[in-house]
Amino acid sequence: MANDSFGVAIMAAGKGTRLKSKRPKVLHEIGGQALLLHVIAAAKAIAPPERIYCIVGHEADRVKAAVEAAGVQVAFVDQPEQRGTGHALQMLKADVELSAKKPPENLLVLSGDVPLIQAKTLQALCAFHLREKAAMTILTAVPGDPTGYGRVLRKNAKSAEVVGIVEQKALKPEQLGEPEINSGIYCFRTAALFAHLDFLTTANAHGEYYLTDVAALLVNAGERVVALQAERVEEVLGANTIAEMMHLDAAMRLATTQRLMSEGVTIFRPETCVIDAQVEVGADTVIEPYVQLLGATKIGPDCRIRSYSVVQSSTLGAGVLVRNGCILDGASVNDGALLGPYAHLRPGSVIGEAAHIGNFVETKNTRVGKGSKANHLSYLGDAVIGAGANVGAGAITCNYDGVNKHTTTIGDGVFVGSDATLVAPLTVGEGAYIAAGSCITEDVPAGALALGRSRQTTKPGWAANRRAAKPSGAKR
Ligand code: UD1
Ligand code: MG
Repeated sequence: MANDSFGVAIMAAGKGTRLKSKRPKVLHEIGGQALLLHVIAAAKAIAPPERIYCIVGHEADRVKAAVEAAGVQVAFVDQPEQRGTGHALQMLKADVELSAKKPPENLLVLSGDVPLIQAKTLQALCAFHLREKAAMTILTAVPGDPTGYGRVLRKNAKSAEVVGIVEQKALKPEQLGEPEINSGIYCFRTAALFAHLDFLTTANAHGEYYLTDVAALLVNAGERVVALQAERVEEVLGANTIAEMMHLDAAMRLATTQRLMSEGVTIFRPETCVIDAQVEVGADTVIEPYVQLLGATKIGPDCRIRSYSVVQSSTLGAGVLVRNGCILDGASVNDGALLGPYAHLRPGSVIGEAAHIGNFVETKNTRVGKGSKANHLSYLGDAVIGAGANVGAGAITCNYDGVNKHTTTIGDGVFVGSDATLVAPLTVGEGAYIAAGSCITEDVPAGALALGRSRQTTKPGWAANRRAAKPSGAKR
């Protein structure tokens, strides 16, 4: 924590009109996580949850629910009408005054739509703010194209002191080239901010209360307003349009692939892979082009994930081979297992050590024991399969009776013949054999052979007799 005197305000009440989306802006995702969650994660380095004030308004309930669903704690402040960034802070002030709690001495203000900001940069900003004894400290950057951002005007090029912030739409022609942008991230001495918030007006292009106007108000009152330029421009870029959002998404994912490569992971054509920020991968694992690793996925060392596989919220041990085109969701795969091509592991699939789940095999809520194989065209749902079992091509568990789901238990070393249908609830004892093409509706004891099919009838010479009866070309 930078200093116990800090609280953090996150402005997250806006609709995000420029996105043209039904989803509130701060719930749009980059790197597999909502913008707001990225910002909260950075805020945690500065203040404890009870001093992180998250200002919500547009679809507030949805935003609160998303934060709570992620298991993240913050203090919410409502801004029922969104009348600008200055108005957002007015709502916080009213809330703090109502609670009769002493506000933190300093306030770090973050924008919910500036998601790449890193804790280290915020710590540097807070330290600079205290060192400069400023009333307001603005984090700035000089990007290739400053268009769209507010511009920070310094007293002179060498000075840390600022005279004001001018929004894009208010720039005079001679100011259009001003290169230093306002990141939307600031530190305030809380008392100085609160003393001036009520003097904001809506005399601007949007008819809103601009927080940025506080800079000039403070300067006019003889207070010290300074700027600190961020070391990395990308960290302070805003996400106001889908295109900007995807630009930040690509930047974040590229950073993730670079982190993984620095940890010993080989990623071919990393720009084609979609890897979420929190994914972990062990050294010497190889990831081929066009792979997606999403959510809280953890992959062990020495694995190979072949192209077009999508792994969501799954755990893989060491030396797992995922052949092309597999889909894993909420699965757990043990060391040395072999999947695919085109296997589908749905939630609750637990694949044992060195087991094989082959092409067009679907598993759901199913445990497959060590070394067991289901290599072709199977559905295994709500099943518990022991070690060393063999599930033949096309064998399926009938787990659903239209109302309830039932379990199929298959013992160690069982041989399930091809195209068998196993009607649950059902137990097949250790070492038993199920004949190919059987429909098995009753439990099979250990070591037994179960046949559940009608006996074949063969009629010798039948084909020739038929042809003789109906000469070819004759109308049938
Ligand atoms: C703002 C700054 C601009 C800066 C840019 C950096 C102002 C007036 N302008 O512009 O100088 O360069 O950020 O990204 O502040 N919000 C609320 N309540 C509101 C309005 C907005 O909580 O009533 C929230 C939004 O959800 C968003 C943040 O404040 O997370 C910034 O608002 P936005 O409308 O995106 O401001 P910009 O136009 O980007
Ligand atoms: Mg913005």
